[in-house]
Amino acid sequence: MMYDQKIKKIKEEIKNFKIKTSQDLETFKGQFIGRKKGMITELFKEIKNLSLEKRKDYGKILNELKKYVKKKINHVVHKKSFFPSSKGIEFDPTIPGEYSEIGSMHPLSIIKERIIEIFMNIGFSYIEDREMEDDWHNFTALNIPPLHPSRDMQDTFFLGEKNFVLRTHTSSVQIRYMKTHNPPVRILSIGKVYRNETVSSHSHFMFHQAEGFYIDKNVSFSDLKHTIQYMIHSIFGKKKVRFRSSYFPFTEPSAEIDVFHNNEWIEIMGCGMIDPHVLKNVNIDSEVYSGFAFGIGIERISCIIHQIQDIRTYFDNDLRFLRQFTSDF
Ligand code: PHE
Repeated sequence: MMYDQKIKKIKEEIKNFKIKTSQDLETFKGQFIGRKKGMITELFKEIKNLSLEKRKDYGKILNELKKYVKKKINHVVHKKSFFPSSKGIEFDPTIPGEYSEIGSMHPLSIIKERIIEIFMNIGFSYIEDREMEDDWHNFTALNIPPLHPSRDMQDTFFLGEKNFVLRTHTSSVQIRYMKTHNPPVRILSIGKVYRNETVSSHSHFMFHQAEGFYIDKNVSFSDLKHTIQYMIHSIFGKKKVRFRSSYFPFTEPSAEIDVFHNNEWIEIMGCGMIDPHVLKNVNIDSEVYSGFAFGIGIERISCIIHQIQDIRTYFDNDLRFLRQFTSDF
């Protein structure tokens, strides 16, 4: 069915859907904006097959549709008659909270959700893991033994007996996951990382990273390149991307990736083919399997999209800043 027709049909269906009970309400939500198989959610996924111009138009229409659904929900749950009052009970804690327009998602959560969606579309699974790590998972298993110079760049907060740290990067998730799962694996993980940095407009002692890794037979650098290009184009639209050869102890070869923004190249992530020695540390046979990994700075990406100059703004909790963001980008 053509895209236009689909939208028209969905609009009709939303309009005609009768919500009388809370069960209806759940079905209504699931059918249209459900995370898994919601009709509008599905259409959002198809957007990437359209030309760039059309994408913008349809994106707008779909966002309008989504708002329409939310409005209807809002309207229904505010009707007094929707949740019958139980006699003799003044406060019934089982009644669902009212849907409210108050509040909005944090800009970093918006990017997080978007990245998760982008990688779910190509078969990645999403996991989260601990922020307090031991030396082995954060450093040694990733080819960064004690006294390795790259530990200097990732000085962090040591907890108790020096063996525990606040993780300096999300690459520790690679080790945690590979230890207990056999390939093929396709994983994305997003979370906070910590470094001993002086807080300034462009650095902070805490920031967010997204880590992705893919291990299977015959994974090559061109798979890595395609995946990254797909991700960058999904986030920024058409932007020039540059792979610059680099060094990380746990990938070989390694690259850093820059995007061209405001007339200059800005580094947004590191990546590479997982070093065979790292695979060996988690008992994966590097003669049979290979894999790639990448790590992205979430604040950086948000700064580029929203033209934000100072990373501290994300953590100031200034409502005038936070209220400017909608999840419809
Ligand atoms: N962990 C690296 C960093 O924080 C980024 C990275 C991840 C590089 C995965 C290569 C592969 O700088």
